[in-house]
Amino acid sequence: MLQDSTRRWFFPYLIRKFNLKVGVEVGVLYGDFSFCLCGELDKLYLVDSWTRKHKDNSPEQQKERVRRKLLGHSNYEIMHSTSKDAASKFDDGFFDFVYIDAAHDFDSALEDIALWFPKLKNNGILAGHDYNLEAVKRAVDSYSFSNLSVLRGDKSESWWVIKNSPLTLDRS
Ligand SMILES: C[S@@+](CC[C@H](N)C(=O)[O-])C[C@H]1O[C@@H](n2cnc3c(N)ncnc32)[C@H](O)[C@@H]1O
Repeated sequence: MLQDSTRRWFFPYLIRKFNLKVGVEVGVLYGDFSFCLCGELDKLYLVDSWTRKHKDNSPEQQKERVRRKLLGHSNYEIMHSTSKDAASKFDDGFFDFVYIDAAHDFDSALEDIALWFPKLKNNGILAGHDYNLEAVKRAVDSYSFSNLSVLRGDKSESWWVIKNSPLTLDRS
């Protein structure tokens, strides 16, 4: 079984079920997961700073791999940018779907949620990867989400919520 196989069918299913049209993946790397999302959405924005070499691939090579992976799709836009700069380019309520998988330290994960949550429409879906990482889990759990779900089954677990109330930090 693929390490990643559960999220690869689950999020496309969720996108169809909720009729989500416009999405963003924050943290793209080679576009492996983008490929699964791109086939379901009308438009997918791909945000990555590609600042580091990964397995000897330069940032430019990583970006080229994304283009090759998405060959045949024309419904995506690559944004070579930090998460913060990219978020500032969109109006609030722009997206139906946001998937966060960029930096996995506590402060970055907390900030990414705060940056991208307002960019979602009401009843849009905010999701992310690596809930099994302690720092990511702590960041997600810092917010008072009333309907947090965790997708079990993969080695790296995803989390998701439906936006139905303002974002608040849990002070309990
Ligand atoms: C785990 S990889 C993404 C994997 C991809 N989502 C997938 O499922 O195949 C994390 C990516 O986030 C990017 N990244 C890390 N911090 C970032 C930031 N602050 N802004 C934009 N991209 C960032 C890295 O360059 C890296 O390519």
